[in-house]
Amino acid sequence: MKEKLKNIIAKGIIALDESSNTMNRRLEAHDIELNLENRNLWRKIILTIPNLENYISGVILYDETLKFLYEEGIISSLIKKGVSIGIKVDKGIYEYENKKRITLGLDDLDSRMQEYHSLGCKFAKWRAVFSLDDIDDSNIELNIYHLAIYSIICLKYGVIPMVEPETLVLDGDHDINDSFEIMKGILQKLVQIFDLMNIPFENIILKINYVLPSKTRLNNYSNEDIITSTIMLFEETLPDTLSNIAFLSGGLDPETATNLYRLIKQKDSSYNFTYSYGRAVQEEGLSIWRNAKENRVIQNTIQNRLKKLLN
Ligand code: G3H
Repeated sequence: MKEKLKNIIAKGIIALDESSNTMNRRLEAHDIELNLENRNLWRKIILTIPNLENYISGVILYDETLKFLYEEGIISSLIKKGVSIGIKVDKGIYEYENKKRITLGLDDLDSRMQEYHSLGCKFAKWRAVFSLDDIDDSNIELNIYHLAIYSIICLKYGVIPMVEPETLVLDGDHDINDSFEIMKGILQKLVQIFDLMNIPFENIILKINYVLPSKTRLNNYSNEDIITSTIMLFEETLPDTLSNIAFLSGGLDPETATNLYRLIKQKDSSYNFTYSYGRAVQEEGLSIWRNAKENRVIQNTIQNRLKKLLN
């Protein structure tokens, strides 16, 4: 498990795991026709970047994409080059009273995990979403129990759980300390429940957002402030055994997401940090796709972003 986890996080992870609906929204924003062919083609363009394995160590996919790429032989070629394949296994968000959210997908997870494992997946992601406004202890607990059950199912098949409690910190209007306190409560609950379930912290990757103020107040803080708060949050909540941490980009622009990642990597800390960005890696390429004459132009754009993230 240790070696497998080390390989996944070694360089960085691209998140290409948008559900069909989310990917359609991304295509729509750039005036690109919404269909299965374009969703698949987009992922194929990225995953056939020449020498991609020099820049990334892992990629997270969604069921539809994994199966398409498997048929195309791209999955086996990535595996041969040492890129670890991951899969998003949650089935998305269910909203209940006053916009509270719970992530669903546990019902047939055992059989899906068995299939994904047989297709070569080394890790699996489950995303729970919290917002600063509509959060309470029962909602946190409910989501964390789901994350714990999914982790137990992953580990049964030797698949590394990528446990993602995302707080939508950029929304609303609040300071960095408000985000810090909410995220602290969530991580404390996660540690408590995972401990109770005997889930080995050293075998999981925590995927999380940076501790940020809302977008409206982002200019009041330096990158240094953000990284200091983020590391402080981990030091105050995580056991020593939970040291593998991946960051999501969460709607930050590519340059800011890159600068934050580069800064946290420079810090002398006991954590193994990596990135697992979706939008921050894809956005620049997606915005030129419609008018690009050749796929190579898009691939170069994305490759340049990945180079900057490499340090
Ligand atoms: O769950 C979140 C995605 O895997 C990462 O996406 O970097 O666009 O927030 P993002």
